[in-house]
Amino acid sequence: MSTFTLDTATSRATPTPVPMKRMTVPALRGRKVDGVTQQPIVMLTAYTMRMAQLLDPHCDLLLVGDSLGQVIYGLPSTVPVTLDMMCAHGAAVVRGSWHALVAVDMPFGSYEAGPEQAFASAARILKESGCAAVKLEGGEAMAPTIAFLSERGIPVIGHVGLTPQAVNMLGGYGARGRDQAEAAKILADAKAVADAGAFAIVVEGVLEDIAAEVTRAVAPPIIGIGASPDCDGQVLVTEDMLGLFERTPRFVKRYDDLASRIGSAVETYAAEVRSRAFPTSDQTYRPKP
Ligand code: KIV
Repeated sequence: MSTFTLDTATSRATPTPVPMKRMTVPALRGRKVDGVTQQPIVMLTAYTMRMAQLLDPHCDLLLVGDSLGQVIYGLPSTVPVTLDMMCAHGAAVVRGSWHALVAVDMPFGSYEAGPEQAFASAARILKESGCAAVKLEGGEAMAPTIAFLSERGIPVIGHVGLTPQAVNMLGGYGARGRDQAEAAKILADAKAVADAGAFAIVVEGVLEDIAAEVTRAVAPPIIGIGASPDCDGQVLVTEDMLGLFERTPRFVKRYDDLASRIGSAVETYAAEVRSRAFPTSDQTYRPKP
């Protein structure tokens, strides 16, 4: 079992004694045996300490995704995200978790120039954040880089299909694999990334049967997003599944509607401040008797 109950009420980032042993790369990789994953991998994005605390008891993997560009920083895409941002948020998520394996996205421009550049960036991410793995986008073209990192002790999660850092090349965020050539390319990309040593692969935004075929075709676990229930695990952007945005992609299931709940709470607070109903004697200090 990977889920457990943990008292997060104290907001302490590092309880003593540490309640659980943290998930490891071999344990996650080992979930898929002879092409079969009995216990699907649960992965969500996290960017902050407190959100990590809340998600950690339920997740196998926490991804500090470069989607923080849009979700946290209001940027138009993931392209402007920097290594500094990823290291800072990665460290916060590691501080807020004890159980899940934390993986941090390599931002656009920090790894594509070649294996040496990727190693320097990934080593900085591991050292500064304390995370256990990095994720990088790209298929066949990135295979030598993934091999270089893996052989030097840096666990890598691949990411194929819809690769948001390539939005300027792709022209948008639509599902991939709608024609045969593109479908074949996604499969070839996943195989190349797997052969290069990625311990897991995110497959994003592809037609369902392609995701299922990729899951059958490669040895490492496939973690789907906008992919297929047949994948070895699933990932979503946490703020999407909690309903913090008005619009979400079609593949997102909303498990709550936090945007309207936050709106109502803040509306009540504003009204009480304006009417002087807040604070009451419960929230103010008096001289000690
Ligand atoms: O950046 C991100 O959040 C991701 C997930 C959507 C897989 O890469």
